[in-house]
Amino acid sequence: MEELVSAYRAMEAPSVIVSLARGFGGGCLSEQVQQVFMDRCVKDEQFILAVEAESSCALDSLYDEHAALLLRIEDGNSMAYKTFSYAVPGEDKRSGTVTLRLSLNMLEGGTGCFCWPAGVYLAELVLSYPWLIKGKRCLELGSGAGLVGVCLARLQPFELVLTDGDLSTFANLRHNLEINGIVLDTDEQEKVKCRRLEWEDACSTELYKADIILGADIIYDTACIPHLVKVLALLLQADAGAEAILATVKRNPDTISAFCNAATQAGLEVSDVSRTMVPLKCFQGLVSFDNSNMLLHKVVAKPV
Ligand SMILES: C[S@@+](CC[C@H](N)C(=O)[O-])C[C@H]1O[C@@H](n2cnc3c(N)ncnc32)[C@H](O)[C@@H]1O
Repeated sequence: MEELVSAYRAMEAPSVIVSLARGFGGGCLSEQVQQVFMDRCVKDEQFILAVEAESSCALDSLYDEHAALLLRIEDGNSMAYKTFSYAVPGEDKRSGTVTLRLSLNMLEGGTGCFCWPAGVYLAELVLSYPWLIKGKRCLELGSGAGLVGVCLARLQPFELVLTDGDLSTFANLRHNLEINGIVLDTDEQEKVKCRRLEWEDACSTELYKADIILGADIIYDTACIPHLVKVLALLLQADAGAEAILATVKRNPDTISAFCNAATQAGLEVSDVSRTMVPLKCFQGLVSFDNSNMLLHKVVAKPV
């Protein structure tokens, strides 16, 4: 049942929801299954609960229209709020939810307003290996909608800097951090900073020092690779022990090779750690999430 609730909140495809509900109902969508679905998924939403708190009963049509209410149309953009539920397998049973305002298609509002599979994978990685983050100075490049950023903020970093270069993505990222209760800076003393950082314009004076640099699905555009590599070199060469972990979906091998070559020329070492750093499955409700084609690269500065 929990998987069905998580999948509903993450707006998985209707076919996935129906299949999970069927599974819960032992193969059929009985009245009992429908009732449980109504109570745990449809009715268990703040808006309907608020209506019920104010009046003796909610209109039937309110429930019928609930899906439409979930899709909030803002400024002509189709943005929706999705809730991702995670539970980290293991003794301490860490769990939580991350709610994000996301674009319903991949490109509207900037590519960073969509939640990319490599971001889910990197979020699972940091949740699985919290000691990579705890007490460290962390910086994320191309934070996008903020799934990784929210998870990082909950893992007690010494300092966290989340960055993105795209204006609308950056505005959406700040919004998403705030709705997840992450207190953002206005001055340099705060632990979580959200900064606009375009790789093309980055120079060493404006970059933060970091022990660990993270990035999900940021190696995809060959035109951006030289700028991305320049930023990584500035960060990694500023601090001898620093390392970067980048998650990428296997799409075009030439793009990955171009990144590795550019990084080597810039005095960096890239290693494929996809087999040695395997995250636990933490986002159980994301039934459609396929982690079989993910790559993880570790990047460090070559010793001088
Ligand atoms: C495919 S999205 C991935 C977003 C997020 N990491 C995720 O996995 O969902 C790539 C992100 O990198 C950012 N980005 C792309 N090129 C950039 C550049 N030249 N400078 C700064 N950010 C850039 C985009 O704005 C976008 O947020």
